[in-house]
Amino acid sequence: MLRTHTCGELRKTHVGQKVTLCGWVRRVRDIGGLVFIDLRDRYGRTQIVLEAESPHINLAKSLSHQDVICVVGTVRARPTDMVNPKMPTGEIEVVLEDLRILNRSKTPPFMIEDEAKVQEETRLRYRFLDLRRPFMQRNLEIRHRAALSVRNFLSSKKFLEIETPFLTKSTPEGARDFLVPSRIHPGKFYALPQSPQIYKQILMIAGYDRYFQIVRCFRDEDLRADRQPEFTQIDLEMSFVDVDDIIELTEEMMVQMFRDAIGVEVDRPFQRMDYYEAMRRFGIDKPDLRYGMELIDLTDLFEGTEHRIVAQAVSKGDRVVALPVPADLSRKEIENLTELAKAEGAGGLLWFKFKDGKPSGQMAKFLPSGWLDVVKPQSPATFLMVLGKDIKAHGVLGKLRVEVAQRLGLVRQGEWKFLWVVNFPLFEWNEDENRIEPAHHMFTMPFEQDIPKLETEPLQVRAKHYDLVLNGVELGSGSIRIHDRELQEKVMEIIGLPKEERERRFGFLLTALEYGAPPHGGIALGFDRIVAMMAGMGSIRDVIAFPKTTAAQALFEGAPSEVPEDQLAELHIKVVK
Ligand code: AMO
Repeated sequence: MLRTHTCGELRKTHVGQKVTLCGWVRRVRDIGGLVFIDLRDRYGRTQIVLEAESPHINLAKSLSHQDVICVVGTVRARPTDMVNPKMPTGEIEVVLEDLRILNRSKTPPFMIEDEAKVQEETRLRYRFLDLRRPFMQRNLEIRHRAALSVRNFLSSKKFLEIETPFLTKSTPEGARDFLVPSRIHPGKFYALPQSPQIYKQILMIAGYDRYFQIVRCFRDEDLRADRQPEFTQIDLEMSFVDVDDIIELTEEMMVQMFRDAIGVEVDRPFQRMDYYEAMRRFGIDKPDLRYGMELIDLTDLFEGTEHRIVAQAVSKGDRVVALPVPADLSRKEIENLTELAKAEGAGGLLWFKFKDGKPSGQMAKFLPSGWLDVVKPQSPATFLMVLGKDIKAHGVLGKLRVEVAQRLGLVRQGEWKFLWVVNFPLFEWNEDENRIEPAHHMFTMPFEQDIPKLETEPLQVRAKHYDLVLNGVELGSGSIRIHDRELQEKVMEIIGLPKEERERRFGFLLTALEYGAPPHGGIALGFDRIVAMMAGMGSIRDVIAFPKTTAAQALFEGAPSEVPEDQLAELHIKVVK
């Protein structure tokens, strides 16, 4: 070993010891008689000191930010007035006796400090420097501890970690596949898995009743702060279980993970909420419960109103839904939110205010007597109203609720509001494509008592599907699965997969279902999202060592990239520009 200790390790108990440290120069201070080197590695910082007469003084003065050096010296206590209580090594310093430069560094494009304000593009291009910053090193440490915690916890519950293939056949989770051309089979392609969903079900059929994997998944979809084309799931599956068993195990695992990774004690059981209740109260299937602003249905109140547009809407069965904002919003702010509501598909926003004990604004004169008892307003408040079909109107206001909470600073920081959203519908209606599609995925088990409705009223069928939400972020999704071929084929048929296609794409699963498939279910949690929340990061890119940009590029290594013609020829591929 080149070193005896790390830069975060030395304390008063080491005083008098001769030590060797290696690290990166954070800065060099020359204060006349003395030169101080602030030396850093991922464990911390240590102050190195040279007296004026040291033979190494000139070499020390020549050091610059990020040179990597090796220092031999003796630990001594700092004089009392020099003690830095904020640094774990703040009680000592190392008096330099020998100095070796292991490598010089060019001047980096940004300071290797947490505070450095750096454009994301520069950060990703110089990822090796960005990753050297303390907060990034802390993030990846949290990630490691979280993964270790999951492995320990699930192993203690008799789960086996089993790898599933990356070069495979499409496992649909609603995104596009990444394809890999086959050299040996011209014109044929592997798909990278969007999740191990089918494989984990097959493992249940094979008798591995408790499987898990911390696994990379690949989805070619539009990227955002919480989405990457390759991301990591904590994926698990169990046999002979029902909804409550998966929920309980997942809660226990989350509690353990938060404890091990960031020392936070999370309360359980987590709250549970029916999907329709979440939609009605919060207009979203992943409500953030750190603030109020629950939606209010005012349809009954406006029955028989003289407001022409509202009257028309109510008569054709639309709902009148309001978001009670606990603030006196300006006209400009209301206009702004109206644009947002329109972008979400609403015809517009109606509004009124309540201030100093009375209503005012656009809709004030249409409020019937008795409205105060129904709405019970806070003062001041602005009520933003949307007209629309049931749930759809709520959905628009759900988006506004999130936006308004952020703009008004209503989100309480430092709280962990876990929530299970349960009893989703099995299917939803895709308006753009005019067809029925699975709300989760096609392998999800319907409620037994709803099975007779599959053909007659499919949109009324409820699913054994549950989502785990934390502070308004969907952390994970899971379900109890169909383990019967006939039922599985029926669901595939309802979503419009003809027999030949079912066979071609999923024949291997359908066949396996005929050979003693046990009842089973599971869940997959977005590992990057969990770690980002633990680390207090707004983007999962800050907890992934080498992420892609929002344009799906790897800037540091430069991917995707063109490949030589002969390599394409070997793969039987011609690029049409
Ligand atoms: P689902 O598609 O809901 O379910 O994914 C589970 C969780 O994975 C995370 N996630 C993502 N994280 C980062 N970038 C992405 N592009 C991305 N896509 C999804 C989310 C999400 O909640 N096989 C099922 C699970 C099951 O039924 O067991 C599945 O993959 O946190």
